[in-house]
Amino acid sequence: MQQFDVLIIGSGLAGLTIALRTAAHKKVCLVSKRSINDSASDWAQGGIAAVLNDEDSIENHVQDTLIAGGGLCDEAVTTMVAEHAKEAVEWLIEQGVGFTRDHDNTSFHLTREGGHSHRRIIHAADTTGHAVQMTLSEKVKQHPNITVMENHIAVDLITARKLNVNHNLETKLQPDDYNTDANACLGAYVLDKSTGKVITIAAQNTILATGGAGKVYLYTTNPDISTGDGIAMAWRAGCRVANMEFIQFHPTCLFHPHAKSFLISEAVRGEGGLLKLADGTRFMFEHDERLELAPRDVVARAIDFEMKKRGLDCVYLDISDKPLSFIQSHFPNIYQRCLSFGIDISKTPIPVVPAAHYTCGGVMTDDKGRTDIKNLYVIGESACTGLHGANRLASNSLLECLVFGQTAAEDILSQPTKPSPQLPYWDESRVTDADEEVLITHTWDELRRFMWNYVGIVRTDKRLSRALHRIHMLRDEVNEFYSNFKISNDLIELRNLLQVAELIVESAISRVESRGLHYSKDHPNTESEPIPTVLEPLNYYSLLDR
Ligand code: FAD
Ligand code: SIN
Repeated sequence: MQQFDVLIIGSGLAGLTIALRTAAHKKVCLVSKRSINDSASDWAQGGIAAVLNDEDSIENHVQDTLIAGGGLCDEAVTTMVAEHAKEAVEWLIEQGVGFTRDHDNTSFHLTREGGHSHRRIIHAADTTGHAVQMTLSEKVKQHPNITVMENHIAVDLITARKLNVNHNLETKLQPDDYNTDANACLGAYVLDKSTGKVITIAAQNTILATGGAGKVYLYTTNPDISTGDGIAMAWRAGCRVANMEFIQFHPTCLFHPHAKSFLISEAVRGEGGLLKLADGTRFMFEHDERLELAPRDVVARAIDFEMKKRGLDCVYLDISDKPLSFIQSHFPNIYQRCLSFGIDISKTPIPVVPAAHYTCGGVMTDDKGRTDIKNLYVIGESACTGLHGANRLASNSLLECLVFGQTAAEDILSQPTKPSPQLPYWDESRVTDADEEVLITHTWDELRRFMWNYVGIVRTDKRLSRALHRIHMLRDEVNEFYSNFKISNDLIELRNLLQVAELIVESAISRVESRGLHYSKDHPNTESEPIPTVLEPLNYYSLLDR
């Protein structure tokens, strides 16, 4: 058993931030299922929303966030985040992140994105996430108090309640930890992918910073790591999960047979890009008076509507009326990547389609990232903090990672350090090597395809109930497989994806209205009172876990 003060699962912006903010006083372990920089954070393009000049105000940022959130944002949390934004950006600048400056070089360039009433997005050209991720991960790797475990995937959390239910053993748990009402988190089981062995990591505090679940859909802007692991683990451990029906579809993902998940940033529309049909006709006039700068849900639905009505494979985003020098300086990455596919965006419109982009719901937390389970924090895209409500405002996500990385760290630092109890080893005595890997790949493909077709941008009751029925069948098969065979990275991810898919569909079924990102053809109206969807966990331990 390895023992740390703080166990952080995930090395995107949320994980890196809390690691750096706790490491001066705590012994930290940072676990990442691939390489340290393999994260959605690394792929972020547009930037970070923050009020950084006098023409803008915290009230404006809060209002824009609340409007996008369709009545379901927590106003106190939203205000807290907007108030911390400047400080969070200054911290990044102190760490060495090189944000893009204005042409006169006296201040930072602020771009604009949909739903923002002001220019308030600080960015590093069109590769903001990469700039931030590289700067922070270098610091983390060099920090003497941080142990980085790459290629290690967390399997499940270890909780006092789970030990007491599943193992009648003589653990050395403190009476306080034994308190199953409080259900404390004691660490996690983690698979070392290079040896195939599951190790036990004990920690006084555990943080899930595992990102979103875009891979539950066939088409997504997300990297392969976005399989909802933290949400599934926290749910199995006994945390409430909220607002999972609100999956954000980004309106403009590059449409090209060889382009896997390449985003065309909303900043392209912010800097004047226009949405068009193949013949050059603009169509946003018919959908929203804010045109191309309407919030994402509106633009994604408009594109979906046009594509379905006209039987199109894609629509087009046109920024070709801007000078080449403007495009190359603002969007160097997008320009180069499109060029590599034979599309010169300074001359021709970019073919685009919507794709699953962001998981607005997640594990319910308070304003310090604390969950229903003592000593377990969830931060970043895996969390449902109340900031995003029914639809996230562009560039508020990196901000949320930074702010909750800070507030959670402060809460952890306020606690005296305590040793962990001895925890049991992972039991592999009843499992054998898997014989039929095809079950995993086939189920994965099937799940992602029907989630796209049945639980996409526009939903119906019938499609949702079909999806749930299929999820239950697949879940039973995969659980049987999980109980009988040695675990692998793909099996862990598939099990988690199925769990998250179930949470998404159950939440969608329980919302009998259309609001924010959830649009139902059967229930197009919006109820006057906004109510979050809160799912209470069942007692899964004895049913599913060995
Ligand atoms: P991630 O950055 O996704 O990191 C998750 C980490 O957890 C990874 O290291 C992963 O390997 C690890 N992990 C997951 N499961 C396990 C496990 N079981 N065991 C061990 N490790 C695990 N937001 C903005 O605010 N502005 C933008 O401009 C912006 N642009 C975006 C562009 C793209 C293409 C995408 C996909 C997203 C964008 N977003 C943007 C959203 C934003 O990038 C993410 O919401 C944010 O980066 C999430 O950070 P995170 O730290 O929570 O998760
Ligand atoms: C983008 O650059 O369009 C993504 C911004 C975001 O998801 O916040």
